[in-house]
Amino acid sequence: MSSFEEAKKEIEKLRKDIRYYEYKYYVENSPVISDYEFDGILKKLEKLESEYPELITPDSPTQRVGEQTISSFETITHEIPMLSLQNGYDYSDLLEFDKRIKKNINNAIEYVSELKIDGLSISLIYEEGVLRKGVTRGDGLKGDDVTTNIRTIKSIPLKIDEKRKVEVRGEVYLSHKSFQEINDNRKRAGEPVFANPRNAAAGTLRLLDPTEVAKRKLDIFTYYIYINNSEPLSTHYENLKLLNSLRFKVNPNFQLNKNIGEVIDYCEAWKERKKLLDYDVDGVVIKVNKIEYQKKLGSTSKYPRWAIAYKFPPETAITKIKDIIVQVGRTGAITPVAILEPVRIAGSVISRTTLHNEDEIKRKDIRINDFVEIVKSGDVIPKIVKVIKERRNGKEKKFIMPTICPSCGSKLYKPEEEAILRCPNISCPAKLKESILHFASRKAMNIEGLGEALVEQLLKHSLVKDISDIYFLDREKVKNLERMGEKSVEKLFKEIEKSKKNSLSRLIFGLGIRFVGQQTAKILSEHYNNLDKLMNAKYDDLIKIYDIGKRVAESIVIYFNEPKNLKVIEKLRKAGVNFRELNVEKAENGKLKGLKFVFTGELKSYTREEAKNKVIENGGKVLSQVSKNTDFVVVGNNPGSKYNKAVNLGVKIINEQEFKKIIS
Ligand code: IVH
Repeated sequence: MSSFEEAKKEIEKLRKDIRYYEYKYYVENSPVISDYEFDGILKKLEKLESEYPELITPDSPTQRVGEQTISSFETITHEIPMLSLQNGYDYSDLLEFDKRIKKNINNAIEYVSELKIDGLSISLIYEEGVLRKGVTRGDGLKGDDVTTNIRTIKSIPLKIDEKRKVEVRGEVYLSHKSFQEINDNRKRAGEPVFANPRNAAAGTLRLLDPTEVAKRKLDIFTYYIYINNSEPLSTHYENLKLLNSLRFKVNPNFQLNKNIGEVIDYCEAWKERKKLLDYDVDGVVIKVNKIEYQKKLGSTSKYPRWAIAYKFPPETAITKIKDIIVQVGRTGAITPVAILEPVRIAGSVISRTTLHNEDEIKRKDIRINDFVEIVKSGDVIPKIVKVIKERRNGKEKKFIMPTICPSCGSKLYKPEEEAILRCPNISCPAKLKESILHFASRKAMNIEGLGEALVEQLLKHSLVKDISDIYFLDREKVKNLERMGEKSVEKLFKEIEKSKKNSLSRLIFGLGIRFVGQQTAKILSEHYNNLDKLMNAKYDDLIKIYDIGKRVAESIVIYFNEPKNLKVIEKLRKAGVNFRELNVEKAENGKLKGLKFVFTGELKSYTREEAKNKVIENGGKVLSQVSKNTDFVVVGNNPGSKYNKAVNLGVKIINEQEFKKIIS
């Protein structure tokens, strides 16, 4: 046998073994070999594959993390809509549900109870035994293609033992442990932390770089399988077993219940037991077991009639208020914050919570040293429900709101009709700190490394007096700050430099104009294409824009009328910060200006979307049909009839390589 044939056989054997070891480790949680041994086998496969790259297939365990970052997610229509669930909040809702079902079906009803995992639902499509697509739920009808990210989840098999087309659905989630790790890293990097595991999982699925996703250790529990052209199994219970036997990860705590009474017992037991789990569970999903009955019951446009989600009551905890401090926000708003004896609640540790304003403190009669009950449900911010007055012992102290700003000493004022005190000083250091943190934040200018600790130091040493000073920092002076090594300074300056090229909408959002959030910033940048045009916009023009209301328009005008703000903007311009909508600028001077492109067939290095964007960015146009006026037809693998048409019309035909050259 040739060495090629031998290598092929060996590669197949290694892959099969690795798949099994991954399954034992990531799905069953019962590894059969050591990490060291596993790494050895994986390395062996990698080596062989590098010697025979023609034998690499996308379903190889070495191919979980692609090298390409992607530019955006494509929208995909679900073949079977991803419905939601009707909710029940107490046991009478479950009894009602059972009654409704029995009205339709004159027989004893068995249910399957499953934990309701608090994550994001995902649809996985397998064809010929190979994972082809991972799509988010989206609006239920259409979702985002997040395949490259989904592939990095080790408990999701890239290859299964079923050749027919299969759709599997499940919940992607983050364990408490991984969530903690992510937030610890973010804190260290000066980035804002995620509020809960669900948000962190959602943020991770939307990352464009799969290498980054792989580091975050997402996981999945699957709960649904549909196999094309097959007689459906007769019960949901069997479907869960089938998922198990195809090596998908199924939450092990599901239970077959003979009647609704047993279901209620299950819910009651898990209300407490869920606290012992290393992932968030926000309720129990109850499903009619017999598929025949499920079909008979059918669905409304929103949810199936054969299932219900029982939501656990929100969790509460009792803890002590150690202190009450005030915070100065970016807009000068003064917010009282309770510093708590740290307490674990609904999966995270809480050590502070906002008290909103003075009226709220008075209304609930909250004092320092009080014991309070706090409540948290799902992704809601924890809040104080009430003071436990029975536990007062005379050591409680009433909190008095300051009359001067804790940061700059200016006299605070309360605008009419508002419950909030504000600091009026434009150059208040606390306001400045928040403005800079906002400017540098991930959704604004995304300057990694410019976090709270560093900003505080920059302010302390008077190295920045407004946001634009970030671009005029003295490298030597920054090096001399506490905890700033050579390397981190290098990285910081690189990040700052990079941010100059950001899109206009990031800049507009970063300026921190009141009421101008991310979405509004996008609308404004698309409308004006250019910061100067926005600066000169009149109130009457602004309110004509769809989605811009009076309050926003007024705030924008006020912002750009303030001489101090104009000075900052001129400094940003001088620093070379991009003031124009990037695509527009490039397109206006683009080398493909005036040229018309048509695509047919599959390209290797780009999705259709990416290829189109390349053309548009360079000023060209993409059309769907070939005509005499077409300048180029780009032909990929398996081209369609457009190719023949181009030949007939004598239009210039180019392949992917030539296309790459044109746009590079
Ligand atoms: S079944 C038509 N089972 O809860 C059936 N959903 O509130 C729909 N979820 O969109 C899904 N754990 O994201 C099902 N064991 C479980 C679940 C579960 C979590 C999520 C899922 C769904 C949402 C509905």
